[in-house]
Amino acid sequence: MIIDALGKTPYNTHMKTVLLRELSQHVDNEVTIQGWMFNKRSSGKISFLQVRDGSGVTQAIVNKADVEESIWNSVDTLNLESSVRITGTVSKHPKKEEYELQVSGLEVIHNAAPDFPIGKKEHGPDFLLQNRHLWLRSPRQWAIQRIRNTIINVTYEYFNQNDYIKIDAPIFTPTSCEDSTELFEVEYFDEGKAYLTQSGQLYIESAIFSHGRVFDFGPVFRAEKSKTRRHLTEFWMMDAEAAFVDFEGNMDIQEALMKYIIEKSLRENAYELKVLERDVEALKKCLEPFVRITHEEAVKTLQGLGSDIKDGEDLGADDETMLTQQYDSPVFVTHWPAAIKAFYMQPDPNDPTKILGSDLLAPEGYGEIIGGSERIHDYDLLVKKMEEFNLPREDYEWYLDLRKYGSVPHSGFGYGLERITAWISGTKHIRETIPFPRMINRIYP
Ligand code: 4AD
Repeated sequence: MIIDALGKTPYNTHMKTVLLRELSQHVDNEVTIQGWMFNKRSSGKISFLQVRDGSGVTQAIVNKADVEESIWNSVDTLNLESSVRITGTVSKHPKKEEYELQVSGLEVIHNAAPDFPIGKKEHGPDFLLQNRHLWLRSPRQWAIQRIRNTIINVTYEYFNQNDYIKIDAPIFTPTSCEDSTELFEVEYFDEGKAYLTQSGQLYIESAIFSHGRVFDFGPVFRAEKSKTRRHLTEFWMMDAEAAFVDFEGNMDIQEALMKYIIEKSLRENAYELKVLERDVEALKKCLEPFVRITHEEAVKTLQGLGSDIKDGEDLGADDETMLTQQYDSPVFVTHWPAAIKAFYMQPDPNDPTKILGSDLLAPEGYGEIIGGSERIHDYDLLVKKMEEFNLPREDYEWYLDLRKYGSVPHSGFGYGLERITAWISGTKHIRETIPFPRMINRIYP
């Protein structure tokens, strides 16, 4: 494989082909493209083939009079989803930003079986999920994965530009990070039980004492018996942690990161957002300052709107939707009751029954996308909190050590990649935002 001086691997080292997204640079020239034919229309002596290659789509026009008979015959027997290599002259659509090919040559790489299961008619979600390996080719699914990819890349970019380094957290862990009722258990040789991680947070906290600012990115696992459109049992989380950052600063970082993601997605995925018919104006409004309200204020607002939520209670999915409908931008809900949040969250010095933590709720009913807080940095206070939460101290000695040697105020947060992808792409159910969703009733394919 040849790699040029810019570190780019040529797409194809033995045949000169172009990508469909590059067609605009080749108007009036003859080029060769390769991809998959996903639609075909014929009218006597002319055939219109819709072809995609991952980078874009084009219409290839085959005129019986312009091609060899064998080519015309192979077009006739070509099934949907066949892979093809096509040579033709590029022309621009007179009105749209679309490019077509007048075909002079066509090679069938593989004629697909005639029964591709996903057609134009409506399919139920179970059928589509059972055929997820093929469904991934559909335009909406294509667009969602491109947006997910942008969010991942842009997250790395943001942290690299802001003095963070990536630190990988383990997946097998001896203890829980969040709610211990949601753990997947595995037998771990002679060591007894181990658990699949729920979040890398506790581990990456160790690394701030070495690097200052760090983040992780990886799959996490929750045995939540939730069947909602916002829950997966395996999803991708990014945890970020920073020394010398307080609760307010922690929200500032989250807000800056989210705005960077929105801005870049709007710019880099304009076409994908169009395919998804996403209301981009709603996303643009999120470039305004985010709303910050306390949990107490949120509950009062919700009660006023008719929710039956009680003081001190967690917000249900409907509450999150109702609350965020009051605003155009995302909403930070802060100062949660300590009793319903994790043990490591720093109590508010003005009211220790509340914590200096926040959930960030996305607008338009997408719900919580980030959870974060200032962390307890005082050794004795952390010991006390662990006792209140009945956590076995011996399992957390290492975590307590961090409060013994050069402890500093610090804060962090974690985002759910699929929830953010669902929001940006305007996808109702997060099962479509991960290539192969794992839910309580699905592990195939
Ligand atoms: O709010 P959570 O539980 O926070 C933590 O795990 C912290 N340790 C993070 C940290 O401070 N470093 O989860 C973080 C995010 C949620 O806001 C949500 O976006 C997502 O993870 N999430 C889920 N996404 C899909 N399916 C589920 N079952 C999810 N549970 C949480």
